[in-house]
Amino acid sequence: MKVLNIYFSSTGNTEKVAKKIDETVRELGYAVDTVKISSKDLSLDILNYDFVFVGSGVYGQLPGKSLMDLQRGLIQSYVKAGEVNPASPRRPSSNVVAYCTYGGVHTGINEAIPAVKFMGQLFDHLGYTIIGEWYVVGEYNTEKLRSHSVGGRLGDIRGRPNQADLEEVAEKVRGVLSSVMRID
Ligand SMILES: Cc1cc2nc3c(=O)[nH]c(=O)nc-3n(C[C@H](O)[C@H](O)[C@H](O)COP(=O)(O)O)c2cc1C
Repeated sequence: MKVLNIYFSSTGNTEKVAKKIDETVRELGYAVDTVKISSKDLSLDILNYDFVFVGSGVYGQLPGKSLMDLQRGLIQSYVKAGEVNPASPRRPSSNVVAYCTYGGVHTGINEAIPAVKFMGQLFDHLGYTIIGEWYVVGEYNTEKLRSHSVGGRLGDIRGRPNQADLEEVAEKVRGVLSSVMRID
């Protein structure tokens, strides 16, 4: 099984999660390509991978712009290549986890849901099964927004994602990978 771990992180929170995913996948004995997106010009053939983790921070209810641009570009090229078809037939043994880190100061998880749904769509179009949608709390790290880490819908989120959050991520990585490897 080939695993891709692709992410965008502006202030470092999603990077912590992506590193935990990388570490856990390796501990389980699988090869993983971990790729941080910095521009949409990355050349990447997603279809080489059976399992993908895709993640981003949430900014204005959506993933980072470079990740969105990359996904839009990839969808167009896969449409041209005939890999995206009406009804999006399932691609056997191809799974994706879409996740975000988010602060949720105003409406909590509701402002993170559009970002995770956006990230899943490229893969759903390609026929991957969305096997997980994960929401990890991440404090506001910029000077301007730091005060949002206290007093919002999620309460005091300073220091998040913390060790417990990252351990929960590791546990869920073990869970989804054992679920796709199980032979009944
Ligand atoms: C400019 C900016 C905009 C943000 N907008 C949102 C938002 O709309 N909804 C939300 O839940 N969190 C929002 N956040 C909080 C981030 O999603 C959160 O801190 C996340 O963990 C950042 O990920 P990163 O450190 O990987 O960039 C915003 C943070 C910043 C800095």
